[in-house]
Amino acid sequence: MAMIDVQDLTYTYPATDSPALKNVSLKVEEGEFVAIIGANGAGKSTLCYTIAGFIPHFFAGTLNGKVEVAGIESQHSTLQELVLNVGLVFQNPFNQISGAKFTVYEEIAFGLENLGIPREEMIKRVDKVMALTGITDLAKRSPYALSGGQQQRVALASILVMEPKILVLDEPTSQLDPIGTREVFQVIKEMSNRGMTVVMAEHKVEWIAEFTDKVIALSRGEVLLQGPPAEVLTSPLLPQHGIGISRYTAVARRAREENLWPAALPLPVTLDDAVAGFVGGLENAH
Ligand SMILES: Nc1ncnc2c1ncn2[C@@H]1O[C@H](COP(=O)(O)OP(=O)(O)O)[C@@H](O)[C@H]1O
Ligand SMILES: [Mg+2]
Repeated sequence: MAMIDVQDLTYTYPATDSPALKNVSLKVEEGEFVAIIGANGAGKSTLCYTIAGFIPHFFAGTLNGKVEVAGIESQHSTLQELVLNVGLVFQNPFNQISGAKFTVYEEIAFGLENLGIPREEMIKRVDKVMALTGITDLAKRSPYALSGGQQQRVALASILVMEPKILVLDEPTSQLDPIGTREVFQVIKEMSNRGMTVVMAEHKVEWIAEFTDKVIALSRGEVLLQGPPAEVLTSPLLPQHGIGISRYTAVARRAREENLWPAALPLPVTLDDAVAGFVGGLENAH
């Protein structure tokens, strides 16, 4: 049984005419790390909210089709039931801050407090997750007095500490520099290797190619493509639908037009694959 099973989902926000998601079907297996890409307004956040149960339990509107997460059909359950399985990291980390706590440490412990986790275990879990997300030195800071990137790490930590079966992340690296982005992708990959199921809306295609198992591309609320990262991320359909592609893909595509890219080789997404392709081409030419 798939961990996330969405069938023919159509969703319209309250007081709007056209659906934000149209006939979306997808499956995510346990432990899979899946990226969602798409232009602004394509429906990435809406899909994240739906998988996390915020739609239809927080945002009303009209939902048709089936959304089953960890065996629970979201329309026929409560948000309280769903949040035991799914953690959502919001696009804007500011929205994640509880407003109830004065320090980052307390902020991260907050969710566990609410679950009534014993103090000893709580401390262990909070310390571990803070080290993992690289925020140990922020423990005593106010959650509000942080940079955007620091807030994103805190938001991630406050969800990871809950150890959800399914982790949904909405552009969790948007305010991070390349080093921070790599660290966050590595942490999430490690979680996925340990069996956590991960769905992540993200723009950074080179990182997606390096770390994820599958990519779902959305366009105007519909699934445009889904499949292996190397396949989806090099599709000529992406630029036609306003989705950014890797500069390495663009260069290699241009080179292929000049017969400078090995005919049998798929187009690259990462620098390493681009270099390998060009070096291979040069060797064959000699
Ligand atoms: N709360 C809302 N109420 C009404 N329409 C919304 C709301 N949030 C998003 N939308 C609309 O739904 C569509 C998808 O938006 P969104 O899921 O935020 O896209 P993305 O995250 O890919 O940028 C857009 O047309 C957007 O205007
Ligand atoms: Mg969004």
